[in-house]
Amino acid sequence: MDPKLIRNFSIIAHIDHGKSTLADQLLLQSGTITEREFHSQILDDLEIEKERGITVKARSVTIDYKKDGQTYELNLIDTPGHVDFHYEVNRSLAACEGALLLIDAFQGVQAQTVANAYAAIEVDLEIVPVVNKIDLQVIRVEEVLEEVENILGLDASEALRVSAKTGLNVDTVFDAIISKIPPPSGSPDKPLKALVFDSKFDKYRGVVTYVRMVDGVIRKGDNIRFMRENVNSEVIEIGQFRPGLVPCKELGPGQVGYVLTGVKELSRITVGDTVTMANNPAEAPLPGYQKPKQMVFCGMYPLDATGFESLRDELQKLSLNDSSFSFQPETSDALGFGFRCGFLGMLHMEIVQQRLEREQDMDLIQTAPNVTYEILTKSGKTMVIDNPQDVPDPSQIDEFREPIAKVSFIVPAENVGTIMQLSQDRRGIYKNTEFLGPTRAQVVYELPLSEIVYDMYDKLKSVTRGYGTMDYEIIGYTAADLVKMDILVKGEQVDALSTIVHRSTADRRGRALVKRLKTEINKHQFEIAIQAAIGGKIIARETISAFRKNVTAKCYGGDISRKRKLLEKQKEGKKRMKQFGAVEIPQKAFLSVLEAN
Ligand code: GTP
Repeated sequence: MDPKLIRNFSIIAHIDHGKSTLADQLLLQSGTITEREFHSQILDDLEIEKERGITVKARSVTIDYKKDGQTYELNLIDTPGHVDFHYEVNRSLAACEGALLLIDAFQGVQAQTVANAYAAIEVDLEIVPVVNKIDLQVIRVEEVLEEVENILGLDASEALRVSAKTGLNVDTVFDAIISKIPPPSGSPDKPLKALVFDSKFDKYRGVVTYVRMVDGVIRKGDNIRFMRENVNSEVIEIGQFRPGLVPCKELGPGQVGYVLTGVKELSRITVGDTVTMANNPAEAPLPGYQKPKQMVFCGMYPLDATGFESLRDELQKLSLNDSSFSFQPETSDALGFGFRCGFLGMLHMEIVQQRLEREQDMDLIQTAPNVTYEILTKSGKTMVIDNPQDVPDPSQIDEFREPIAKVSFIVPAENVGTIMQLSQDRRGIYKNTEFLGPTRAQVVYELPLSEIVYDMYDKLKSVTRGYGTMDYEIIGYTAADLVKMDILVKGEQVDALSTIVHRSTADRRGRALVKRLKTEINKHQFEIAIQAAIGGKIIARETISAFRKNVTAKCYGGDISRKRKLLEKQKEGKKRMKQFGAVEIPQKAFLSVLEAN
């Protein structure tokens, strides 16, 4: 394939601005998929993505497009738009020469528009601004273009205006891809160099490695080497995504496709690795990516001890297709044997948990999530803490550090004050405000990650009536006055309820948490004291009085079916309870920490 006829591009956008729809429209108009397939959004094939309408895992597809008697090979790499999945975006950008920057004609530039555009600018991609949804009744294209120029510094004079939904002007997108995005460079005669930009585990074929060719040619039967992992393997099959896996004879410079090898474990194929030829290796590997870093951790426990092994199996299966998710065994006095799981962010955590429950039909107890801390001990050791239970005795701690994020909010101008208040209340440090136009502004704060991961997004949405958006990146760790807060139920510490909090908010949080727990834990036949404590000192207390719960009491003895329903409901509720000593603690209680801010 002549590299001059190849174009490799991504579509980058804020969530919901229409990436998947445009991707599908490109596939439809080029005849890669049928009308029927178009309507079922083929690129988002994970069930959860469909339900939530978000793209989680980047995918790639090859489109043949005919123009002026030539057939171009357009390789589209689909990218996710949510903050949690930055690393997926960066991965796919490195495999491209250009990007379509898609912006909703009404919503305009949003937080992830900015973040994604900067990521593309950083790797020198050619950016083509595309205003989408021009079929909507209310649009503000001129203002949106002004925002593109003001905030992103891009030339918007040649921006495209399309409707991905109806297909209007989508032909101009093909033209721009061909005329504006540079073809890849590379030589078929140089030693093989290909970038691994993704991989997935297929039940029948083993590990499918996604590659972007740079130099050289790869064919079936070649003996290739994964340079970073130093693994050699024979190529069993190569092919392209059209959109299913379609074998081809060879892949040359600039092309995008897949390689099947004898490698059976996904962990040996790392994203960012370079593929070369075993007998004629390239001198140096391509610059790889930074490994995604887990920033949010929580415990996951099977409801009863017999579930431990099957939970392990399920976590293993999940991690096969999601290298950014980690897990390792841990034990809790309260919950028994389980796993400490690491995620990129809160949405990532929710998705993993839902997949486990839905696909595997497992009942889990999940503990409140926390971020990763660093502790410098008096003996000069640096500990990385991803579980509050690992915090050493305060007398051993020299410095307690927490991760700080640079957060950028894009909000209607009238909400600027509220956002500043919200950030200030959460120990934020003000950086700057920039107006995108007369009605909207970007506000930048540095905030402790722990103060934003749980509910900042929801708070932002509620104070801006849905119009505000945010994006964040971790900029480092700083020392803070942090303490471990323990919870005692009936005099005994429940380790899974311990949290790390800032000393200045400990009293307030402690009081809020015990209050919350009081509402979550049912009355028992005895009195239950719930206490919050720091280093043995009680800072808050609530008492649940004794009561014999009789759920059928309300039914006046008459309606049998209603009575049965209530009992079934109670049984269902019981399923998610954990017996702790004589006290039953429901699953929801372990998450109360989140609501007790
Ligand atoms: P994520 O995958 O979640 O990042 O979203 P996305 O950017 O892929 O957005 P998606 O294509 O799922 O579109 C979001 C919503 O906007 C869907 O309800 C689409 O039907 C709608 N939409 C996309 N393009 C257009 C358009 O041109 N016009 C109109 N009216 N609606 C559109």
